[in-house]
Amino acid sequence: MKIALVGFGKMGHMLASAAERRGHEIVLTADPFADDASVKSSDPAETARAAAASGAQGIIEFTHPSSVLGNIRALLPLGIPLVVGTTGWNDSIPEVRELAEKSRGHLLHSANFSLGVNLFYRIVAEAAKLFAGFDEYDEAVFEAHHNKKADSPSGTALELASIILKNCPKKTEIVTSPFDRQPKPEELHVSSVRIGAVPGTHKVIFDSLPDTIELTHRARSREGFALGAVCGLEWLVSAADSRAPGLFTMDDVFADM
Ligand SMILES: NC(=O)c1ccc[n+]([C@@H]2O[C@H](COP(=O)([O-])OP(=O)(O)OC[C@H]3O[C@@H](n4cnc5c(N)ncnc54)[C@H](O)[C@@H]3O)[C@@H](O)[C@H]2O)c1
Repeated sequence: MKIALVGFGKMGHMLASAAERRGHEIVLTADPFADDASVKSSDPAETARAAAASGAQGIIEFTHPSSVLGNIRALLPLGIPLVVGTTGWNDSIPEVRELAEKSRGHLLHSANFSLGVNLFYRIVAEAAKLFAGFDEYDEAVFEAHHNKKADSPSGTALELASIILKNCPKKTEIVTSPFDRQPKPEELHVSSVRIGAVPGTHKVIFDSLPDTIELTHRARSREGFALGAVCGLEWLVSAADSRAPGLFTMDDVFADM
């Protein structure tokens, strides 16, 4: 498959290697600040024109929370299946869903494309169901990432928190800011630390007076994210033939596995 990469930073380079290892061809790399990108515009309309002209059959977008929406608005109407890995735009999902339906585009998004994290989501859902019946236990989410990450908390931590809310009715509200008062029992605290080069660590904690249970996913490198995004694009390109336009998540990809 011919693939266009929008954003040619750390993830963009990983994606190029992962895609080439799976026999795909990178026909465009767009990034205003990467010396080795083939298109250096920060104008989403220009990037979209270049992507269309490149003959790309699929596009993968890993840029910056401040750029992602402009890119999605310009790229979706091309009708080329689009995978978005950039985080920090959760609040705009309804708007993007409407745009996908209107422009008949197919978009797969995930805050975390690694297979392990997507399996971890399922483990956490089951654990949250188990602890839901025991008021002795309190729950929290913790995440750590490298000090170049632009958004906080991570999209993965927010996804974990929403999985806990869905499966553990005693928690009804996510709190991401530090507490300057005692937390209420129904509040689920999500805390973040930014340090060094950590590729991504997520922990779900169940704590009671006598003991603590901790479930941890620790990414060892970015390769898992890149491979997951490329496999996600392969799935989206074949799904685009048979499925109505709209937004898709890794749950849709796993449902077909
Ligand atoms: N979904 C996942 O599995 C996953 C995994 C890792 C990182 N991420 C997210 O992906 C994003 C990128 O991560 P990274 O580590 O590659 O960051 P990075 O800073 O190394 O690279 C981002 C690149 O995007 C470029 N960019 C900014 N605006 C652009 C625009 N308008 N058009 C084209 N390029 C533009 C920047 O110049 C930079 O080179 C972040 O939001 C990060 O949180 C997601």
